[in-house]
Amino acid sequence: MIPVSEQLSCNKARFRALVTQVTGIQMPENKQSMIEGRMRRRFSVLGLSSMDAYLDHLFDGHTLQDEMPYIVDLMSTNKTDFFREPAHFKWLMHKIMPEHPTSQPMRIWSAASSSGQEAYTIAMLMSEYALQNPGFKYGILGTDISQGIVEEARAGVYPEEQLLDIPDALLERYFVMGHNSKGLRCGRVEKTLRDRVKFEQMNLIHGNYPVDKELDVVFLRNVLIYFDPPTQTRVIKEITDHVKVGGYLFVGHSESMVVTDSRLKQVSFAVFKKERAT
Ligand SMILES: C[S@@+](CC[C@H](N)C(=O)[O-])C[C@H]1O[C@@H](n2cnc3c(N)ncnc32)[C@H](O)[C@@H]1O
Repeated sequence: MIPVSEQLSCNKARFRALVTQVTGIQMPENKQSMIEGRMRRRFSVLGLSSMDAYLDHLFDGHTLQDEMPYIVDLMSTNKTDFFREPAHFKWLMHKIMPEHPTSQPMRIWSAASSSGQEAYTIAMLMSEYALQNPGFKYGILGTDISQGIVEEARAGVYPEEQLLDIPDALLERYFVMGHNSKGLRCGRVEKTLRDRVKFEQMNLIHGNYPVDKELDVVFLRNVLIYFDPPTQTRVIKEITDHVKVGGYLFVGHSESMVVTDSRLKQVSFAVFKKERAT
């Protein structure tokens, strides 16, 4: 019979391995207290008093499937901002958009879009460009592994302090200010802009993405850092398959080093251009 203490630590290791297997997110043992801190929200809702009790419940043979969406939501780190890493948006506006033929719609994918700030930042810039270039059309897809965060992105409601990086003119044009149910002042992305961005739940580690090929631009920022090197290489390959020749891939500022796909040439800080099909 396995001693109780060994059984408990075995369950913890099993949980970390499960999260990595499902999401690609690396979960070394030194993340255990972070894991328990985040999972507290879930086990409290279930009326369980500890992580150990939750793990017993999780691995009881009946619960795993139902619990997975909650685990994915709580284990993913969703930090993001409007105009995060702003040089990328300058590059998009001043280099990519002017060279794009107005006659063709521009198609952009924000992969790992979190609560939507990245996709809506792009949408505001596209919409501004369209005002100056009548006939310009665009489509934006945002995807994330976390169903909860995808729903937040669709709602497009942000506390006032998260709107500080948005230039005043854009804030005025694209946000409706009000108060949420707790009385906090919030801004909601205005409906016409919200309708231009589609958000879907999608796991990047599975490949065969149900997303169009021949995209003009993909933002794959600040998610690769959570994966191990083979997963990083595989995800970059799969994503690059969806970029048209002459299109661009953006990664997070700390992620340039992991981009080794020979079809991609670095053209700016954490910006890559796809030069060939194979
Ligand atoms: C730190 S946020 C980055 C958000 C945004 N791209 C940015 O740079 O501000 C990382 C996001 O990656 C998502 N994520 C983690 N693993 C994923 C996976 N396997 N497939 C898709 N999204 C994933 C998380 O849910 C989280 O919302």
